[in-house]
Amino acid sequence: MKNIITIGLLFSIAIVLLVTACSGSSDDKKQVAGKEENKTIDPMQDKGIGPVESISLPGLIDQTMAVLGDTLFINKCTACHKIYKRKIGPPLVGVTKRRAPEWIMNMILNPDEMVMKNDAARKLLMEYIAPMANQSLEEHEARALLEYFRSIDADQTSLKEE
Ligand code: HEC
Repeated sequence: MKNIITIGLLFSIAIVLLVTACSGSSDDKKQVAGKEENKTIDPMQDKGIGPVESISLPGLIDQTMAVLGDTLFINKCTACHKIYKRKIGPPLVGVTKRRAPEWIMNMILNPDEMVMKNDAARKLLMEYIAPMANQSLEEHEARALLEYFRSIDADQTSLKEE
């Protein structure tokens, strides 16, 4: 009789363990699925991968910075980019409306890792085939370029073909 009770007890423990193990693994699956979903979250929340973790932007455009950004753009970026048209890379008008500021700066400062590890950047590489070149800019230069893009996106009345 005692034996039967012990066996019964062991059996129920086994079942409990089995059930917990199963529900545990389905939780894991849900977590993995959740992670995958997170990769396709709102691009404005995606900060990308690189030295820029978080920046706060002033409400008004810093014109001095934007002018520096304009010059940098002409010297370092126009080989591959136009503002209003596709060239080797995407047109950059509206980029501050479709990407987080940190993402834009990380794309400028760390393009190689971005196109390998960031989903949005990898998709661009698949579309444009050519990889974005690292122009070895300093963080404040990437920040100035961002300000230049902000000034373009703030002033859509200046839309013109370039
Ligand atoms: C050798 C060509 C090349 C140069 C030089 C280059 N880029 Fe790019 N850029 C690309 C390509 C191509 C892509 C699309 C991603 C890819 O294929 O790697 C891209 C993507 C981008 C993106 C993302 C655009 C989007 O729609 O999200 C930004 C922002 C950007 N570049 C900014 C710059 C800036 C700023 C410079 C100058 C400092 C620059 N790039 C210089 C080729 C270039």
